[in-house]
Amino acid sequence: MAFLALRSILVLSLGLCSLAEYSIWNHTRGKDLDWWQKTVIYQIYPLSFMDSNGDGYGDIKGITMNIQHLKNLGVDAVWISPITKSPMRDFGYDVSSYVDIDPLFGTMEDFKALVAKLKELGIKLILDLVPNHTSDQHDWFKKSEANDPKYKDYYVWADPTFRPPSQNAFPPNNWTSAFGGSAWKYSTKRNQYYLHQFSEYQPDLNYRNENVTNEIKEVMKFWLDLGVNGFRMDAANHLVEKEGFPDEPVNLDSGVSDPNNYGYLKHIYTMNQPETFDVLADFRAMLDEYSHKTDNITRVMITESYTSTDEIMKQYGDQNRSIAHFPFNFNLLAELGDEADLFDLAINDWMSNLPQGAWPNWVLGNHDNRRVGSRYDPKMIDSLNMISLLLPGTAVTYYGEEIGMLDNMGITFNQTRDPIGIEAGPDNYLTVSRDPQRTPQQWNYQNFAGFTKGNETWLPVNPNYNIINVQDQTTLPMSHYNIYRQIVQLRKLPGVQKGDLEVSSIGSRVLAFKRSYDGEETGVVVAANFGEDILENINLAYVLDLYDKKLTVNITTPAATYKPGDIISSDDLSLNPMEGLVFTFQHSLASSRSLSVVLMFLSVFLVVRV
Ligand code: NOJ
Repeated sequence: MAFLALRSILVLSLGLCSLAEYSIWNHTRGKDLDWWQKTVIYQIYPLSFMDSNGDGYGDIKGITMNIQHLKNLGVDAVWISPITKSPMRDFGYDVSSYVDIDPLFGTMEDFKALVAKLKELGIKLILDLVPNHTSDQHDWFKKSEANDPKYKDYYVWADPTFRPPSQNAFPPNNWTSAFGGSAWKYSTKRNQYYLHQFSEYQPDLNYRNENVTNEIKEVMKFWLDLGVNGFRMDAANHLVEKEGFPDEPVNLDSGVSDPNNYGYLKHIYTMNQPETFDVLADFRAMLDEYSHKTDNITRVMITESYTSTDEIMKQYGDQNRSIAHFPFNFNLLAELGDEADLFDLAINDWMSNLPQGAWPNWVLGNHDNRRVGSRYDPKMIDSLNMISLLLPGTAVTYYGEEIGMLDNMGITFNQTRDPIGIEAGPDNYLTVSRDPQRTPQQWNYQNFAGFTKGNETWLPVNPNYNIINVQDQTTLPMSHYNIYRQIVQLRKLPGVQKGDLEVSSIGSRVLAFKRSYDGEETGVVVAANFGEDILENINLAYVLDLYDKKLTVNITTPAATYKPGDIISSDDLSLNPMEGLVFTFQHSLASSRSLSVVLMFLSVFLVVRV
């Protein structure tokens, strides 16, 4: 290395590098993995993928026209955010009919054509289902508000409380909405409050009424009959609330002082109630039964919840009953900064808490969180794709992440569409609005990045489309797009599909893991430098039990120390600042653990050049 200015040598101690091993694959040995286990799931936010009719909003035909893009990426499953009828207060997550396509997205014929195209290309389709709430424009809600005998208990209604001295009417309790403010809205038609855990336009369904569960199961059957392969269940841990509606306690650890802020309370009565798991298990049983009665192809159920790892793990179910095929793992969605050891912790948190035989997954981005290149240094995008796509389990990619799209922070308050941003007002909207990560897919250099032939777009295209777009990146060998494709191809190796995981961080700078599967010759190693320094003499031999192994460089980030095909010794690795590397190695059955323990105490050095 040419520009050595100062060399400091850190002797690695056990405290700086600790190895975690996960051999959870017993249940997969000798078995073929199922389609939902092998695949990458690509999330399409339909309003922003491709506009086929020039109205500025993405639509179903636009998706169908671009399915080849998914095929080119090597993706075998797509999850589409809601496309059913909606007043679009929350852009489809406020459903006014569960069984009609919203005209903004097209027609049922368009949907059938999309299903046919996906089938032709062998891509599975997962739809978003929003079981916790509907729109206040849904027929069920209108009838419920009018006290129609069949529908009056379809939603969560409660009488006002009357407080002295004025005896004025107040909401039934202190519950708050995830979008801010009280979770109760007064209906003058019914003289009662209805619960809305999200916006006031999204009344909560009442799952203490069995008819509601049955209605949603009918909805599921409707879409399954049309060829859908499963559902992503929105806000899955919110379905049932504690009977009697007791006040929730203040969360003293949160540091939040504004009672209108969702973080102010501990949501112990609105989230993760035991009955919620019963409803979810019922949905899962319906999917399994459907599959058994038809073609035995699994119809998958994926649950979405922002809650503690313990609670999320319960959504897998237990020996007595299955619930989700997997609940989303949002550990890599957190803002983990540039500390490799925090990533190590996030990975271990998921893997060490997984119930016996449960299938892991990794979500790197979605429509509710800042884009990867905006949460982290954009130079880390490829390394983070290497990590999330090569860890054990299903990986989920948000549209645009394959080209490293960034948040569009230039959106003005007037252009703001997200209800959370609007609620926050002109001074604060950008800190909370989800619009920046929902802007149109950047296809090429044409007007509006090729997203529309019209004159406007529902959210402004990120002006950086001149430098970040699909067309450009397909031609550049070291683009995010091409690196992403290489990683997805490598995922198909048995060592990655079924392999054990050994993961470790070396100090706060390097994250490294190994994937290998007994009986398969080829294993995979990923190493990423999260820091700004050049690192030398990194010894992966002990860290990942690779003593005496030669590593063959397979995929690199741009400006890498090595090139594909280079063979290096596992005890002498160099990494440029923010470099990520994927290696393959030939597996040998003899373990060298004891020898490497001895070696660790003799000579394990990390040399940092600054
Ligand atoms: C979670 C969805 O991902 C989010 O976009 C939506 O606003 C809420 N659920 C409410 O449905």
